[in-house]
Amino acid sequence: MIQSFSHKLISWYKSNKRDLPWRNTDDPYKIWISEIILQQTRVKFAIDYYNKFIEKFPTIESLSNAKEDDVLNSWQGLGYYSRARNIHHTSKILKEKYSSNFPNKYDEIISLKGIGKYTAGAILSFAFKKKFPVVDGNVFRLLSRLFFIEKFIDTTSGQNYFYNVAEDLICEKTPDLFNQAIIEYGAIVCKPKNPNCTTCIFNYQCEAYKKNKVFELPLKKNRIRTTDRFLIFILGTKKNIFLKKKKDGIWKGLYTPPLYEVKSKKELNNIKENEELNIFNNNVKILKTSAVINHKLTHQNLSIKFCFSDLDLDNKNEFTMVKLKNFDVYPVPRVIEKFLKNFYDEQKK
Ligand code: ADE
Repeated sequence: MIQSFSHKLISWYKSNKRDLPWRNTDDPYKIWISEIILQQTRVKFAIDYYNKFIEKFPTIESLSNAKEDDVLNSWQGLGYYSRARNIHHTSKILKEKYSSNFPNKYDEIISLKGIGKYTAGAILSFAFKKKFPVVDGNVFRLLSRLFFIEKFIDTTSGQNYFYNVAEDLICEKTPDLFNQAIIEYGAIVCKPKNPNCTTCIFNYQCEAYKKNKVFELPLKKNRIRTTDRFLIFILGTKKNIFLKKKKDGIWKGLYTPPLYEVKSKKELNNIKENEELNIFNNNVKILKTSAVINHKLTHQNLSIKFCFSDLDLDNKNEFTMVKLKNFDVYPVPRVIEKFLKNFYDEQKK
């Protein structure tokens, strides 16, 4: 069964795989970057981010020499900016400790900041052709259904169980192909919502299919809790905005205009023209507001209003005055970038 599973899987992969840029390389640096991007977004969007990132930072050396703002700018829109900061930090370690090469031992790779078991397995198998399993969401789903595994995929013990199953299945000769193939099969055939069970080449041995329980797996112990937040960004009325680098929170390292937070949708809706807000001990009169913009992040639902005011910070509180036409030099959260771009384009008309 094990032999025939990996043979069948790999031969399916050879004739059905998508041509993805990170599959045409065995450079561990490029594989590392691709896997971190793929943890943030779907393949369709990852391609463009990957190509641009690699074009801008083609080597460990070039990334390690980059400014943090430039790295964050390339990450803009992907979210989880701590991942970009970790990549940057790790590139410097790779330069100093490994002369800008990637180590090829599990213990060395796993000790690098931002690299866990999954990414280490991807680098070791895809780049160095070593026999390490790669278990991502696609693989959890496929294995849980094929073998009807009722273990939680968001607990350490559950994950260890799945890693052991994957380790038993992985083929000796081409672990890289096996890992790419199992990810691809999960992504294309054993999909979360509309799996192609009737044409699946493994359906006769799929325990969940036989039990008619495909949609019940995989199991998660904790559903992700999301918080609702209500934010107001204060913009100037002239052709300038004030920006400051965030020191913490979801946008750490990015630049944002002055931020004011309220507790409820009602309070947010009540912020209208001619209201006064107390910002940095100044009473700031709101002259105009945008409609409420809803922006979903992995763990937070943001409701955002942009307010135009006569705020004049004069470089106080570490804010920098930036000409609206130059704001894109600064890495800003995607939702702010979109709003400012539209606003600037409108103003130019
Ligand atoms: N998702 C995670 N890793 C992937 C890879 N290497 N190829 C395609 N999809 C992926």
